[in-house]
Amino acid sequence: MTLSLDKKIFPELLCFLDNHSDFDFFSEIIKHVEENNSSHRAEHVYKTAELALFFAKTHIKKTEKKTLTPKIVTASLLHDITKEKKRSYHMTIFKKHGALEKYGKLPFALWHAKSAVFHIMDFFSINDKDILQAVSFHTTGNENMNTLAKIVYASDYLASAEPSQVEKLKKESLTDICIEKCLFSIRKLINQKKPVSGETINFYNSLV
Ligand SMILES: [Fe+2]
Ligand SMILES: [Fe+2]
Repeated sequence: MTLSLDKKIFPELLCFLDNHSDFDFFSEIIKHVEENNSSHRAEHVYKTAELALFFAKTHIKKTEKKTLTPKIVTASLLHDITKEKKRSYHMTIFKKHGALEKYGKLPFALWHAKSAVFHIMDFFSINDKDILQAVSFHTTGNENMNTLAKIVYASDYLASAEPSQVEKLKKESLTDICIEKCLFSIRKLINQKKPVSGETINFYNSLV
């Protein structure tokens, strides 16, 4: 695998990729990440996957690990796949999937989570509900998120946090990290006098 992945920074992710039976599928995903994202964005998604693997160890039942861990890694690696695309790309993909009216009304910052779902359906023929929901809800959160989606939501937050903050937050429960990310998003949007998504409020209310 020719990657900008550093063994020292992403040991869990590299161990997962090296040992997974569907090595070719994940190699394609990594290649796609590198081709469609800046190195900064690629590093962010690798960090998200590394953290998600950490949370999967403690939050996924032993009997479900084999099925759910590859889904968690897939959703983590692809959650921001359209983040750096131009407005026209999102609009074209929304139009193609008959979702322009539905998602075109959302604030632009939320578009990438919705367009990423269509992007990964088109490029990788991924139709798995767990993966698609985790990607779709990674920005706003949603009260119907399962553990897998919460792991991706929390890991995405930690992947952008300061290293000292990451170590502190890793010791907290998944619920507490999700609450913290909800509060961070709500405060940020209120300070910017921007609308807060009802999905985030409902998710927050479901957690406290
Ligand atoms: Fe994102
Ligand atoms: Fe992200």
